[in-house]
Amino acid sequence: MRILVRGGLVVTAAEEMYADVLVEGERIAAVASPETAEGWLRGVDRVVDATGKYVVPGGVDVHTHMEMPFGGTVAADTFETGTRAAAFGGTTTIVDFAIQKVGGSLREGLDAWHAKADGKCAVDYGFHMILADVNDATLKEMDGLVGEGVTSFKMFMAYPGVFYSDDGRILRAMQRAAHNGALPMMHAENGIAIDVLIAQALAEGRTDPRVHGEVRKALLEAEATHRAIQLARVAGSPLYVVHVSAAEAVAEITQARDLGLDVFGETCPQYLFLSTDDLARPDFEGAKYVCSTPLRPAEHQAALWRGLRGNDLSVVSTDHCPFCFTGQKDLGRDDFSKIPNGLPGVENRMDLLHQAVVDGHISRRRWIELACAAPARMFGMYPRKGTIAPGADADLLVYDPAAKHTLSAATHHMNVDYSAYEGREVTGRADLVMSRGQAIVEGGRYFGRPGDGRYVERATCQYLNGG
Ligand code: URP
Ligand code: ZN
Ligand code: ZN
Ligand code: ZN
Repeated sequence: MRILVRGGLVVTAAEEMYADVLVEGERIAAVASPETAEGWLRGVDRVVDATGKYVVPGGVDVHTHMEMPFGGTVAADTFETGTRAAAFGGTTTIVDFAIQKVGGSLREGLDAWHAKADGKCAVDYGFHMILADVNDATLKEMDGLVGEGVTSFKMFMAYPGVFYSDDGRILRAMQRAAHNGALPMMHAENGIAIDVLIAQALAEGRTDPRVHGEVRKALLEAEATHRAIQLARVAGSPLYVVHVSAAEAVAEITQARDLGLDVFGETCPQYLFLSTDDLARPDFEGAKYVCSTPLRPAEHQAALWRGLRGNDLSVVSTDHCPFCFTGQKDLGRDDFSKIPNGLPGVENRMDLLHQAVVDGHISRRRWIELACAAPARMFGMYPRKGTIAPGADADLLVYDPAAKHTLSAATHHMNVDYSAYEGREVTGRADLVMSRGQAIVEGGRYFGRPGDGRYVERATCQYLNGG
């Protein structure tokens, strides 16, 4: 198949230009002026008219949890439903988290996640590995995984007894990463202190979802962020801090980056568009907004936007981890600490960030940088993913910047019974979603099949030395 996408404004992280894009098979063959492309018209199978639209790279969401066992239940999107929803929302690559079990090997964890995902996905997918049990054997296994494209490893300073690693284990894994090129990812919250505050709150009879936000204090996010940064400095490794929500944590990352350290921050749309007001919704509705790090008072958002503009925050991912309100969030009706942590959002990220362009928070190119190019670079997939250039995978969107639509559980494709953004109107939507040259979503209809998405073997982080 040869497809010519004509007449659109091509937007990448680096530039904007009116240009035509020639797709041959699974790759982008050329990007050229309309005059040059005129000569290709006769040799193509299909011409897509993108007049009045943007032509942008497919979204790259580097933080999802499809069918993740967590909080006594399993995240509601499978790799099949979750990646289809991603496609509808203009995301054509995800990186999900395979999980090592305590007492188990990394290999077993990775094999288990391949078994869940292989042959099911609508879009391309890679894996990070969650280190739940750092020991001599695990550290040796890390080297091997880096060699097969699993080049980033998440650890948790939160969730004692579940995924928690103490500082010694974290330091050892970071030392290994300094040696094998892996990128350590950190869930930075002081989980030991948080557990004390949870027990105290429950003893006082404070059981509502809003208390989740009160005990998971911004200072305990900042403290853990600071500690993770110092541990990485001691180990000589880079560090990627996931789901940053507190202004005080952004300040720690800013300070580290001002020193020229390879410290990177990620935030998510829920921290930019939602707040503790949502956690405080009555009739247990706040449970829909329970995630960790938690939503913060709206005052924190200015620091997040500033961080995104100035590159102290480098990536926006979703941390998509959906649990239904009925039957899953319910588990914590009498005890907020039993509400499964996580929000749905894989389908909404590209449009919410485009809304941020409309609202004047970020520029159009920064939208593409944060949502496509930077995540691809951070996790070793650039320029195959994250840009529009000859040789890149033909993952692209014909994006209508004027299309208004309302986010709602009634119309979304995520396998979850609520939308965190119910009733919110956004401006902008992908008319056409192409994954490796195949139109998988067009005019609101899905034309793909489970298994279209392929596993992406990733290189190591392409961003070191403060980039
Ligand atoms: O609440 C969240 N974020 N759930 C997913 C697991 C994690 O910590 O990323
Ligand atoms: Zn986390
Ligand atoms: Zn500090
Ligand atoms: Zn997560």
